[in-house]
Amino acid sequence: MTCGDGADFRVNAASEISGESVEGGACRLGEGERFRVLSDLHLGHDQSVIRRVGDLRPLLAGGGTVVFNGDTFEERAPCYREKSGAMLAELMELCREEGVKPVMVNGNHDPERWGRDAVDAAGGRMYVTHGHVLLRLVSPWSSKLRGCRGEIEAMLAAAGEWERLTLGERYALTRSVCLRMPPSETRQGSQSVAAKVGLLVREVWPPTRPWEVMKVWAGLPRLASEFAGKYRPGAKAVVFGHTHRAALWRRGGRWLVNTGGFVTFSRPWRVTWDGEGMVIERIRVKGGAFGVEGKRVVALG
Ligand SMILES: [Fe+2]
Repeated sequence: MTCGDGADFRVNAASEISGESVEGGACRLGEGERFRVLSDLHLGHDQSVIRRVGDLRPLLAGGGTVVFNGDTFEERAPCYREKSGAMLAELMELCREEGVKPVMVNGNHDPERWGRDAVDAAGGRMYVTHGHVLLRLVSPWSSKLRGCRGEIEAMLAAAGEWERLTLGERYALTRSVCLRMPPSETRQGSQSVAAKVGLLVREVWPPTRPWEVMKVWAGLPRLASEFAGKYRPGAKAVVFGHTHRAALWRRGGRWLVNTGGFVTFSRPWRVTWDGEGMVIERIRVKGGAFGVEGKRVVALG
């Protein structure tokens, strides 16, 4: 089944987004279909660096298919939902203006919104998913786990051995964990330097939190490699976001790309499949809008 949320997109009607039937709630792009991936826009969140949706235009210009790889919309956070919904509508309008076919993927901030957890693309050579499915606790570093960790651990234990789950079961269980965690609250407040310093202080507290973050970063390539080996052994590249730290790894004969996020302290990447190779570019603010630089091309055989 093909992907697309363009013509049938309705901002306030999730049921009108058709889910696809490929295992694990994925959809499949055509073998020759070129596409780009942008992740973790967090529209409307106070940590998002996207202040005007129109600033994204240079990243979308030229049309074609763009996979918005999760955490695009603040589905669960009452404090952001209205602003996020308005910006999402602007994003869809921007896509229409630029001739872009948006393909929306669930993230942990929008775990049910899109009815799609992943995209198979480039003739099976690429697998695109938000990335929270790699982690049993979704966000093991999060202070929000404090009040619900026991319940979530019990839910995971009841589901059976993590390594034995089918891909569909794993996505469903991950979604349940997302829904059990409290929604986002205001953490940064504004884009001022003082607000960012305050956020930084909160990010490193309690002192165990940086350790949890580093453990996840260190273990992520192994987890992504094992995930791909089990569920998508034919994939030459797995593209994900979620941890807001862009990186490229080569492991087990496979490329693993974390695209980072459009949030404070992160420097996101854009990934493009141009029909021959995977193009990775750093996203920078240029003249008040987003642009790309530092192109790297990776052949996928
Ligand atoms: Fe995110």
